[in-house]
Amino acid sequence: MQVGIDKLHFATSHLYVDMAELANARDEAPDKYLIGIGQSKMAVIPPSQDAVTLAANAAYPMLTAADIAAIDLLVVATESGVDNSKAAAIYVAQLLGLNRRVRTIEMKEACYAATAGVQLAQDHVRVHPDKKALVIGTDIARYGLHTSGEPTQGGGALAMLISANPQVLALDTNSVMLSQDVMDFWRPLYHTTALVDGKYSSNIYIDYFQDVFKGYLAEQDMSIADFTALTFHLPYTKMGLKALRSVLPLATMDQQAALLAHFEHARHFNRQVGNLYTGSLYLSLLSLLLTDATLKPNDLIGLFSYGSGAEGEFYAGRLQPAYQQGLDLGLPQRLARRQRVSVAEYERLFNGQLAWNDTDQVIDYADDPHRFVLTGQKAEQHQYLDTQA
Ligand code: COA
Repeated sequence: MQVGIDKLHFATSHLYVDMAELANARDEAPDKYLIGIGQSKMAVIPPSQDAVTLAANAAYPMLTAADIAAIDLLVVATESGVDNSKAAAIYVAQLLGLNRRVRTIEMKEACYAATAGVQLAQDHVRVHPDKKALVIGTDIARYGLHTSGEPTQGGGALAMLISANPQVLALDTNSVMLSQDVMDFWRPLYHTTALVDGKYSSNIYIDYFQDVFKGYLAEQDMSIADFTALTFHLPYTKMGLKALRSVLPLATMDQQAALLAHFEHARHFNRQVGNLYTGSLYLSLLSLLLTDATLKPNDLIGLFSYGSGAEGEFYAGRLQPAYQQGLDLGLPQRLARRQRVSVAEYERLFNGQLAWNDTDQVIDYADDPHRFVLTGQKAEQHQYLDTQA
């Protein structure tokens, strides 16, 4: 029996800031952001969206009534959690109208946790093939205004339905993991923005990729030529390009050109949104599948997941014949319709998020077109609204 990704759907903000404009405002050369970092636009998440609403907005458009009836596991992977105790997944399950007989958990390991969710989900479905699992990576990447990490911010959520006989990608049960205590990026409980040693983090990422990718090839007795495309966690798209380049010497010149061409498709939408933390790898997969017309059923796609702290994993999946049917086909149009905001407006929205204190707060959501919004905080409880209810 094959198990894997049956559907993929993405949600982000309706607002973005142009990276050349941000570079100018920060006295940087635009090409540093556009080429050196590899980002063209950055999602600006308004205060009316958080990890919970982004997750619900990502998942609901793809779920049929039959899916909802079959889902008995919901994993919300995030490092932008809204509560130290209660799982974001419980709010999300409520907003989506999931069955009460559902296991709901939040998972955390920096940008890696959605992969842990996918693996847990595929094991679950292998034991219960009539059931489906919903895995959502949802985050708002925040390094702070005027920091070196600022151009690698962004946000959004990527929802995946995991099922037997999947439409999109049949997952391999083999994978290679690596987990070690590394202080490259972390966020103490009293910080709303991440602490990062950016250069160190980028080096660890490459080391992890080399380790798990080469470990996978050795364990499976495979070569790089077995893969049609390699996809990467993309905190910024140049990061994945650097990792890919680090293994190109394993390939022939023709294979190198093909892998680089596929990579350009795989970073197309990440370049326009920025970092999603947990969802980044899977937005890259969606980007590849939506934009690369050369892909064929049975192509083997490699996935490299990385979370600072640090954990990495390499695994793979085979493209299924009807894969287009499981994709978020409206994504290019939704991204094209987004509204550009000035750097001053981006800074205002960045500073306008719900304050982490015990006061009652009201958030203006009038301009937010999304179905699920955060309207504020009352009696120390987040107030979520389904605007279509
Ligand atoms: N034209 C083209 N490229 C330019 C340029 C220009 N005018 N000016 C600079 N660049 C290139 C640099 O050569 C560099 O490329 P390289 O990394 O391939 O050498 C790149 O732009 C970035 O420049 P750099 O000076 O290294 O930027 P920085 O010190 O401001 O930091 C990061 C960049 C990515 C380290 C920083 O944004 C960061 O810490 N981000 C968060 C890191 C992260 O996400 N970590 C988690 C990993 S999972």
